[in-house]
Amino acid sequence: MDKNIKLKILDVVYPGKGLARLDGCVVFIRGVLPGEVVTARIIKQRKNFAEAELISIDEPSPSRIEPFCPLAGTCPGCSYQHIDYEEELRIKDAQFTDLLRRIGHIEDPPSLPPVPSPLPLGYRNKITLHSSHDFTISGDKSRRTSLGYFALDNRSIIDIPSCPLAVDGINHQLQKLRRDHKFISGLKDGQNLSLRQTKADGTIFWLEGSPPENTRLTEETCLGPVQVSYKSFFQVNIPIADALMRRVMEIISEIQPSAVIDLYCGIGLFALAAGKAGIPAVLGIDRNKAAIRAARRNAKNLDLPGLRFEMMTARDGLKFGLSPLKSEEATLIVDPPRAGLPKEIIALIAEDKPGTVIYISCAPDTLARDAARLSNAGYRIEKTQIFDMFPRTPYFESITVFTITGRTIREESNQ
Ligand SMILES: C[S@@+](CC[C@H](N)C(=O)[O-])C[C@H]1O[C@@H](n2cnc3c(N)ncnc32)[C@H](O)[C@@H]1O
Repeated sequence: MDKNIKLKILDVVYPGKGLARLDGCVVFIRGVLPGEVVTARIIKQRKNFAEAELISIDEPSPSRIEPFCPLAGTCPGCSYQHIDYEEELRIKDAQFTDLLRRIGHIEDPPSLPPVPSPLPLGYRNKITLHSSHDFTISGDKSRRTSLGYFALDNRSIIDIPSCPLAVDGINHQLQKLRRDHKFISGLKDGQNLSLRQTKADGTIFWLEGSPPENTRLTEETCLGPVQVSYKSFFQVNIPIADALMRRVMEIISEIQPSAVIDLYCGIGLFALAAGKAGIPAVLGIDRNKAAIRAARRNAKNLDLPGLRFEMMTARDGLKFGLSPLKSEEATLIVDPPRAGLPKEIIALIAEDKPGTVIYISCAPDTLARDAARLSNAGYRIEKTQIFDMFPRTPYFESITVFTITGRTIREESNQ
């Protein structure tokens, strides 16, 4: 375990670790690039693989760049800050295809080119930091409070003076709060601080358990201004959220479904996009009350009277929206949390068999699993594409269009 070893990096696999082989055994290592030769040390030996720590880079890749943050290597957020952005996109696209092949059993996924983020840094409109009291032996009086992200061990907190992924307004506000001794000393151990920015509202912040003064925010999108509750989910990278909505509008305009259900609709972005694409009957479902309230207001403000939003679980929503979905002419949009679609949701889709399923995903591994299940239910992938919502991190968003076998949509993306 202690001795230094040489590794040739074969690939960088999802979510963000370099892969090498040593005597036939797989070794994972952070902070490397495909093709590099590095010196490392094994830090964990498991049954089927080992984990190594980087000591030095002996043959660097031409795509290696200087990290942009002093916390590189310590903060687990930006796994890709040593890679130029073009190579990062290539790596993410290759990972996506690999997951669809290995887990989804889709031999040759029909992929469109990845959509890059216009801003590779300074794009996040929301961050959440956690406070931690580091006690010294003299107890409470000499207490030092850290305010930051979870470290790799998922327990300790890395103090974050500013985050290069966040928009400038958030970093200014964070620095102001950090200079405010009264604010910092009033933080409870483990308490969360969220900072959020919109063009219309500026930067707001709130502590866990106490809402901000302004709970209704307005976000500028390609559909027009939309209302968002501070409590509901909203996409973190607005230009990429716009690209997703435009793509959904293109797909919907092409297939002209008789009805659309937007499951896991949040404040209604994709349902609103379907309404804007001219579909008269659209139903949005989400279990978050604040999100559904905002979605209803958004449909009204954008003059889309044919849109309906209901607060219920995805399972109840599918049962409730049953009749419009039981048609080849219907389209189901799903944008689930990272865990993907539960088996019972896939079973309900398999029963109803809407002609098209537009699957928006922030977790390519669960998407790939669900792609295999949807294939078993008679669907095939028409088109798939990644949208880089989270540059410099190992994560990305994607849109995959599934059609029931025997049906095709003709369309070309210009994204
Ligand atoms: C990834 S977000 C997508 C939101 C929306 N499509 C957007 O782009 O703003 C997932 C959403 O699923 C909702 N959700 C999570 N589990 C759910 C469930 N079992 N039933 C209904 N909604 C659920 C959450 O409230 C959240 O709004």
